[in-house]
Amino acid sequence: MQAVEIADGIYWVGALDWNAREFHGYATLRGTSYNSYLILDQKNVLIDSVKNPFVEEMMARVRSVIDPQDIDLIVSNHAEGDHASGLPLTQQATGAEILASKKGVEALRLNYGEMRMREVADGEELSIGKRTLRFIETPMVHWPESMFTYAVEDQILFTMDAFGQHFCSSKRYDDEVDLGTLMEEAATYYGNIVMPFGAQVKKAYAKVKDLPIKLLATSHGLMWRTHIKDIVEAYLGWADHRTEERALVIYDTMWGSTGRMAEAIAEGVRSQGVPVVMMRITDTDRSMIMREVLRSRVVAVGSCTMNNNMYPTVADITNYMRGLRPKGRKAAVFGSYGWGGGATKAIRENLEAGGFELAFPDLEVRYAPMEEGVKKCIAYGVEIAKSIKS
Ligand code: FEO
Repeated sequence: MQAVEIADGIYWVGALDWNAREFHGYATLRGTSYNSYLILDQKNVLIDSVKNPFVEEMMARVRSVIDPQDIDLIVSNHAEGDHASGLPLTQQATGAEILASKKGVEALRLNYGEMRMREVADGEELSIGKRTLRFIETPMVHWPESMFTYAVEDQILFTMDAFGQHFCSSKRYDDEVDLGTLMEEAATYYGNIVMPFGAQVKKAYAKVKDLPIKLLATSHGLMWRTHIKDIVEAYLGWADHRTEERALVIYDTMWGSTGRMAEAIAEGVRSQGVPVVMMRITDTDRSMIMREVLRSRVVAVGSCTMNNNMYPTVADITNYMRGLRPKGRKAAVFGSYGWGGGATKAIRENLEAGGFELAFPDLEVRYAPMEEGVKKCIAYGVEIAKSIKS
């Protein structure tokens, strides 16, 4: 296990989790990495630890450069377990003092117990020899205690989760992998984790926008050195809930009736030249759906009625969306029922609570959509397309 030098005297010493396939409800099909960094100076500093089972991998990379006991300070930018659950072991191995924001110290103590820690203030600078580290609080991006650390002379911004991707790779930089894949993983990450905090993303950006930055050193996935402008512009667009001229139709179906409705609605959208993606919820992970929600201007959600309620999978995804609060998008609700409805009302409640504008009347079909029902669904899709183009 070798460290990777990313600037003179600064090393990536993180861990690669090739087999991670789940991250609190989010399918991480490309695995992930926990990026920590080692800065050598008069005081040697580790930026973040890693998830607890990966501490030895990180330590092996550290040992390829220095004795871990020569580390003086550990900066904890974020207290979540994928970066901080390894802190107790890391402190035992290094004897280093941990620096964190005020809320960070509190969260670390509550999560991992007593450790030797010191609070740093927002904007505080720390000289570690020929280098200066500046601590920049970024509350709710994406925990209350989160902060960036800026290496002033090297112009490196350590951004913890921001700009990250669950993307395990033998490469370390954005220009060493396919940019489309990288942006897709960054979008999936934003849509599933950062989406509720767009206002706080913009506040964090305001604090760093005038800094000269050569490298965005993320806590997950690839570091950004060539496409910094692309990822920052994407973040600002996502934070503003900017969408594309496209629709998403998601649905679940018991005996195929709501599925036929979804197909007809998608056909109506497509007939107007508007791109549309259709996903059956049973067959699609919720994180893939959220990536499509992120860029779609209208989301149509369909469910059969089951026991006067929505189908369980539809409850799952609409509840997930409710928490992620994808504001600035329109929603449409549809579904089939037999002798008593209830699905559309339940879906509507979740979508409204999630910040969607319910811009269309609910479309329901009793039992199966015969010729007349299919025509209604196609017309419904046409109306969705018109609203996207207007
Ligand atoms: Fe990568 Fe919020 O933890």
